[in-house]
Amino acid sequence: MIFDNPLSAVQQRNLNRSWNKPVYDRTELILAIFGQRARSHEGKLQVELASIEHQVSRLVRGWTHLERQRGGVGLRGGPGEKQIELDRRMLDTKARQLRARLDKLEKQRRTRRRARERSSVLKVSLVGYTNAGKSTLFNRLSGARTYAADQLFATLDTLTRRVRLPDGQEIVLSDTVGFVRDLPHSLIEAFKATLDETADADLLLHVVDSSAGDRDEQIAQVEQVLKEIGAADVPIITIYNKIDAAGRAPGVEADPCGNIDRVWLSAATGEGLQPFLRVLAERRPRLLAPDNTTPPTAHVEDA
Ligand code: GTP
Repeated sequence: MIFDNPLSAVQQRNLNRSWNKPVYDRTELILAIFGQRARSHEGKLQVELASIEHQVSRLVRGWTHLERQRGGVGLRGGPGEKQIELDRRMLDTKARQLRARLDKLEKQRRTRRRARERSSVLKVSLVGYTNAGKSTLFNRLSGARTYAADQLFATLDTLTRRVRLPDGQEIVLSDTVGFVRDLPHSLIEAFKATLDETADADLLLHVVDSSAGDRDEQIAQVEQVLKEIGAADVPIITIYNKIDAAGRAPGVEADPCGNIDRVWLSAATGEGLQPFLRVLAERRPRLLAPDNTTPPTAHVEDA
């Protein structure tokens, strides 16, 4: 039985007992999917840490419940409580080890990022609701063959590649984890290092599935997550993808100041892609900091 909302440890146990079936809440379902999809070492560690933190939060809640039953703090000491304490210590130790390993990986990531910053190459990140078509667009633009599949969260790990624009200039493009409605907070925390890449970008490409019935809700959810990770101020171009499925014509639209901020295209068929690349080339110099517009000198790594 899967619930589309959070359950307390006690609710879960009671439901499990009365139905005699495994019971999962939204966070656990998302964690299970993340667990299946993570491919890089860092992605796997992040999922493991998020899962342990989720377990710890449930232990604490379970404990609070037991405490209440026993009548408060003064009456601690039953065997169940000892077990919870042991479990918690074990999980805490494991979480500390995972955090240390993730810190190390994050430092390496930061070093790579600094090399890119020094090179004054425009940093562009793809964001969007899960299944919007980010990886398909990433593949189209970079010529890479990343994993694009009709699955939720097919991409969990940030991928970065160089992309050459029609004017010959290069940008670095990152593909990131897809967002989802009510992304549990512990998961945002766990993926913070990966999502930092998003907040650090010079430009975000918000990929939207223009054929989705709940398109506007998905847009709002992504904007909410961008706020939570401190990326609300990064300039955005919204890419209405899948026009082939939505029956729309390709095109570009500008905001009141004349900046093109909406593009209609199909990453699958390639329709509308060339006008979009021209828009990127045209906006590139203005998006780079003014003292940053000299041609690249440092080496840019392919992640
Ligand atoms: P997550 O990794 O879950 O965040 O997904 P994503 O946003 O990277 O989506 P992905 O590129 O994996 O595409 C999801 C599905 O949409 C796949 O089945 C793609 O083939 C399909 N798709 C992507 N772009 C288009 C498009 O322009 N038109 C159509 N019809 N389908 C598309």
